[in-house]
Amino acid sequence: MGLRPVANWSAPSTGTLGKNMLVVHASQTGNAERIARLSAAAFPGATVRSLATLDQDSLRAARRALFVVATYGEGDAPDRARKFEVTTMATPIDLGTLDYAVLALGDREYRDFCAFGHRVDAWLHASGGRRLFDRVDLDGADIDAERHWQQQLSAIAGAAIQPDWQRADYTPWTLVSREHVNPGSPGGAVYRIMLAPHAPTIWTPGAIAEVLPRHDPARVDRWLARVGRYDDSALRETLLDKILPDDGGDCPAPLQALAHRDYSIASIAASGAVELLVRACPGPDGGLGIGSGWLTKVAPIGGAILLRIRDNPGFGPVEPTIPIVLIGNGTGLAGLMAHLRDRAAVGGAPAWLLYGERSGAHDRPFAAELETLSTDGSLSRIDRAFSRDAECDRYVQHLAADAADEMLEWAERGAAIYVCGSLAGMASAVDAALRAILGDARLEEIAEQGRYCRDIY
Ligand SMILES: Cc1cc2nc3c(=O)[nH]c(=O)nc-3n(C[C@H](O)[C@H](O)[C@H](O)COP(=O)(O)O)c2cc1C
Repeated sequence: MGLRPVANWSAPSTGTLGKNMLVVHASQTGNAERIARLSAAAFPGATVRSLATLDQDSLRAARRALFVVATYGEGDAPDRARKFEVTTMATPIDLGTLDYAVLALGDREYRDFCAFGHRVDAWLHASGGRRLFDRVDLDGADIDAERHWQQQLSAIAGAAIQPDWQRADYTPWTLVSREHVNPGSPGGAVYRIMLAPHAPTIWTPGAIAEVLPRHDPARVDRWLARVGRYDDSALRETLLDKILPDDGGDCPAPLQALAHRDYSIASIAASGAVELLVRACPGPDGGLGIGSGWLTKVAPIGGAILLRIRDNPGFGPVEPTIPIVLIGNGTGLAGLMAHLRDRAAVGGAPAWLLYGERSGAHDRPFAAELETLSTDGSLSRIDRAFSRDAECDRYVQHLAADAADEMLEWAERGAAIYVCGSLAGMASAVDAALRAILGDARLEEIAEQGRYCRDIY
């Protein structure tokens, strides 16, 4: 992974280091954009652009470029970069004068780890671009890979990268209440969780709460019993927020902390509380999943939950004058509620909600509030589909297809389309329905303009 000497490299001088340096991001949930901006700070004067806004000419004009590129869906480009991939990246272009480097962001739990970053790198290389250094793949919060990228940038910049790239600390929030919102549902129990900050905190609609979970003590006890250390109370305490080691019994040092879990925030900052919709999911050991178990059962009411808030620019608010179509299923309603509540608070163009769940009798979270928003005109239309109801048996994508003419009309009026909920099934089916209604080219254009916004998981 040695550094290739850069031709015509002159000694850096303050303020001009970033001359001819383009820093490009392709981001869905904000990580790639954040790292691109941090990377650009090492090159004063560098230009930061979203991949979606680039064309062949702007790439050819750049002498040096850093690409910070996330992968989404199943090995796909982030929504806004999809059009770039199918058009500009369709064939190699002449980038014989470009020196570049790629930081690919991804998650090893996906089969197509960093796939889009790999495709960008391969295309730049096939186009004649010269690698400043080998591509770096960054899995989640892999500190080593991040440091490696920083070191490579330091070598190019000719100066150590000083800024602290670590994110803000998790802070304690009080668990105010948890309410089971779908008793009797054929689906898993969903809870409305309210969290109050210890100090005033603001966020933008679309933001994500990153919650640090803790184990159910009973799970840790079972582990201690299995490895014959049931009386080790110090270890028990230590393990509550760590990944439980394999049953061999030897604890690796250091123990790895449990990773945070992401939840879409349903409330707006003006409400003064973070509100989440969390489904209790089964874990592999028969108990509840660690993250959902912590929020829906284990954490005591009145106790502290450690979390931090991450802005999610790809799912942020549009101008109030733009109508919004909100499409989602299950707990995805949380991310949509934030936009609906923001629209109701700020005023502006109308909103339309299309929502899918299982049972019309039991799965109606926020029903009373949605009724009020309909009455006061903030929500001009609401369509619901219930997949397990005998007389309905339909999903949210069917709602979109049934209302094709109205969807076209809303698109004509420049509406932004927000999709929030499950990746498996819902997101791709809704995407296909929208393509059938609006056409591929139109949907890609809307995406490129930042008006097809998805928060899917
Ligand atoms: C719905 C979804 C699908 C994802 N699919 C992939 C994938 O196929 N391959 C991969 O390596 N990472 C995948 N990831 C992980 C993201 O690439 C990773 O979280 C990255 O840091 C996101 O960067 P961003 O915030 O700039 O979008 C996925 C993440 C989500 C939420």
